[in-house]
Amino acid sequence: MTDTDFQYPLRLQKFLARAGVASRRGSEDLMTAGRVTVNGEVVTELGSRVDPSHDVVCVDGRRVEIAEHPVYLMLYKPRGYLTTMDDPQGRPCVRTLVPQKQYPGIFPVGRLDKDTTGLLLFTTNGDASQQLLHPSKHVWKHYVALVEGRITKENRRALEQGVELDDGWTQPAEVDFPERGSEAWDAVTPEGIRVGQTVVGLTIHEGRKHQVKRMLKAVGHEVVFLHRDGFGPLELKGVSYGSWRLLDEGEIASLEKIIQDRKRQ
Ligand code: URA
Repeated sequence: MTDTDFQYPLRLQKFLARAGVASRRGSEDLMTAGRVTVNGEVVTELGSRVDPSHDVVCVDGRRVEIAEHPVYLMLYKPRGYLTTMDDPQGRPCVRTLVPQKQYPGIFPVGRLDKDTTGLLLFTTNGDASQQLLHPSKHVWKHYVALVEGRITKENRRALEQGVELDDGWTQPAEVDFPERGSEAWDAVTPEGIRVGQTVVGLTIHEGRKHQVKRMLKAVGHEVVFLHRDGFGPLELKGVSYGSWRLLDEGEIASLEKIIQDRKRQ
């Protein structure tokens, strides 16, 4: 992978954030304070763009660069953490769970709700989120939910055909029922399962806000616990609750293949 695999030119504040200098907002402050130069010229205009393969960017006179090889890692997101790298209110957020000093500029690809657990991909590759989460072609994601009630044949069929939400009809989902005692089952029943509750799996190709909870609610099932164990070619494996690991070569190759294929489309 080379520099050209990033989308250039980049907005300068985005470049600074990707390089791990500061958050996007913090980078804007550095620019307006006149502390950022591009090719020796102070740049304060927030819309300015840079091409890191040609332009020399410095903050307070020190050169800033983006790592040449993108980093990819997966976090097993625990409950109670916001998916953000910058929460001004200081609430628990995923930033504190990933090695951002070691890998400056990593950011989450998409988001999971605060109370959702499971696979959250992080990368320094700006193309990754653009290509993997494009509204018309999200990679598939597999969720497991502990829900109230029994899922009838009719409700299953409705989920499989698409349900109407307040922002329109969803695309068809795939429905499965993880076996009692499987990893997926255990992930959503840390506090056990009560009579009348069901563990259900849902594969979706979209990424609307609270989509899985809203889809299940639309067919009459309140979600008690939600977990993601699959994201495109990635499975939540080899990583424990609250920890992260780098993707292995095979995982990176399959992700990058999807990214490159989509860029060509
Ligand atoms: N759908 C939801 O409802 N919540 C999530 O966190 C992810 C998908």
